[in-house]
Amino acid sequence: MNPKIDNLLTETRRFSPSEAFAANAIAGRDLYERAETDRLEFWAEQSRELLDWEKPFTRVLDWTNPPFAKWFEDGTLNVAYNCLDRHVEAGNGDRVALHWEGEPGDSRSLTYAELTTEVKRLSNVLIDLGIRAGDRVAIYLPMIPEAIMAMLAVARLGAIHSVVFGGFSADSLRSRIDDASAKLVITADGGYRKGKVSALKPAVDAALAPRGELGVQETVKNVLVVKRGENTVDWTEGRDLWWHDVVPAASPEHTPEAFPSENPLFILYTSGTTGSPKGILHTSGGYLTQAAFTHKNIFDIHPETDVYWCTADIGWITGHTYVTYGPLANGTTQVIYEGTPDAPHPGRWWEIIEKYGVSIFYTAPTAIRSFMKLGRKIPKKFDLSSLRLLGSVGEPINPEAWMWFRKVIGGKLAPIVDTWWQTETGAIMISALPGLTETKPGSAQVAVPGISIEVLGDSGSAVESGSGGLLVVSEPWPSMLRGIWGDPERFKETYWEKFGDKYFAGDGARLDEDGDIWLLGRVDDVMNVSGHRLSTAEIESALVAHPYTAEAAVVGASDETTGQAVVAFVIIKESQLEEAGGAAHISDALRAHVAAQIGAIARPREVFVVNELPKTRSGKIMRRLLRDVAEGREVGDTTTLADTSVMRIISDRVSAN
Ligand code: WTA
Repeated sequence: MNPKIDNLLTETRRFSPSEAFAANAIAGRDLYERAETDRLEFWAEQSRELLDWEKPFTRVLDWTNPPFAKWFEDGTLNVAYNCLDRHVEAGNGDRVALHWEGEPGDSRSLTYAELTTEVKRLSNVLIDLGIRAGDRVAIYLPMIPEAIMAMLAVARLGAIHSVVFGGFSADSLRSRIDDASAKLVITADGGYRKGKVSALKPAVDAALAPRGELGVQETVKNVLVVKRGENTVDWTEGRDLWWHDVVPAASPEHTPEAFPSENPLFILYTSGTTGSPKGILHTSGGYLTQAAFTHKNIFDIHPETDVYWCTADIGWITGHTYVTYGPLANGTTQVIYEGTPDAPHPGRWWEIIEKYGVSIFYTAPTAIRSFMKLGRKIPKKFDLSSLRLLGSVGEPINPEAWMWFRKVIGGKLAPIVDTWWQTETGAIMISALPGLTETKPGSAQVAVPGISIEVLGDSGSAVESGSGGLLVVSEPWPSMLRGIWGDPERFKETYWEKFGDKYFAGDGARLDEDGDIWLLGRVDDVMNVSGHRLSTAEIESALVAHPYTAEAAVVGASDETTGQAVVAFVIIKESQLEEAGGAAHISDALRAHVAAQIGAIARPREVFVVNELPKTRSGKIMRRLLRDVAEGREVGDTTTLADTSVMRIISDRVSAN
């Protein structure tokens, strides 16, 4: 057994919530009991309680055509109305929805009434631009309030948004715009990152201009641009519009229309095991039900008093579910921050917590580890006593980081919820309930009420306590993905082929003696770098698109801060060797190339130039062996290699670097 896993499973520390926390907690044990008694009725109850349905549903789940689920199918609702107008109608219009903090230190707070009005105006602008239910709108924005307004205005019209993370390149943006045939792009001139303006509009211009074999982009009719960075941008008359010219001038009246529960809400692209990202499709009623339910119960939301902050960017699923939809459906006051954690100083996040009195803080292990490295002196300078609950997401949190988070940030008192979920699951699936569960550092613990999780062996039978296997979701759930945009076959193959009508998540997991779940990372060729998914195939295909490269193999090697890091092994074309001019130069050029092709998050930590790659007799690259080298371990079993001497040569090459 992997020694690291052994250590994890002997973790004996346990932490119960304080009596005061438990006494005021939103979620009680009855949730588990009700879900156990009648799972579907439980979700129906939650949905009726948490959302306003224009036409109530009478059917809960249709699973007659797996894996295509329909939840609350005959009900109708408007998602944006549920996140905005109804809170104003209920008399909470003056409650702050967003405390926005810009990186340079400018800030802006918007109440529910103000946010609702802005979204209504924007909806009218979108209507004028010809956006109708079912149309796709790409959103490529920094973390500014307009990003959330854009998502909600698109949703309000029953149209479909596709948010593309602002760190992705023009190429990545183009392929996502094309795949969804987007009609409109909403962007900004730029946004602030690390003390500088990081331009966005030029990437949109480049994405829409003729690109190589792709030619001119034909579906996008308009580009709506927020002025944020004050950087000069090129302008295409007739196509481009400034937000500040059209939105304030639009009518603040807009009556929302109700759409069927299964009306698509958004597409979000994520990396899979092949070179092309897949457009994960989510729909309305089921998604919003589970987003609101998990947000309220796992984060113990008391909307009158709590100030909640999730540090995720809206470009990722966490930003969709736990910045936009969950918190706003629950009428929460939240903080959003534009910039990086270290700008202009390394205490920026803690300063923001102090400034707004943040009580619930949801972030990623990679961030926690990078703060750990800087030391506790920095957070100690700030008053963090408002924090009463902490959350973690994106990758396994090692017990050391968990303990640091608890002690240094949570003042030894705040419970920590380690939440496991995926772009595909739409909302949290495994987590403690903070007022009930005795938490264990490093374990995500138990399925959320109403969710059925199993750990299976390869043959499909459940593993015993104390053993490892593959994580599956064994019953359909409200916020499950409804498919991959434009590719139903890939949807079936990727998630459903292995275990029939049970969803295969791609993660390995172990059950401990108490039945608690420990996540062990991906079992496929997907890496997790700083909580962001990247596929080895996607980066390999970017590498071989460079004129230097003949062949490439990419692995995710464990990294102290980012969880995993991208490490590439490349064979350079004989004809290019001279021109390429040395390994250091090649490495720099290829690292920059990957960043330009995909985005900076995909930039390899290291690129090793080698003469051979380890392959089986059938030509399959054995990444396992390369991972051994990249992690500085003794290389494992090489007997299935076509040429067993290859690994020695590669190891020598790498250690000489
Ligand atoms: C990993 C992010 C361990 C996992 C919400 C999953 C986690 C992938 C956890 C999904 C966690 C997420 N513990 N691993 N608490 N949360 N993961 O789609 O490998 O960006 O499959 O969704 O992140 O990444 P995605």
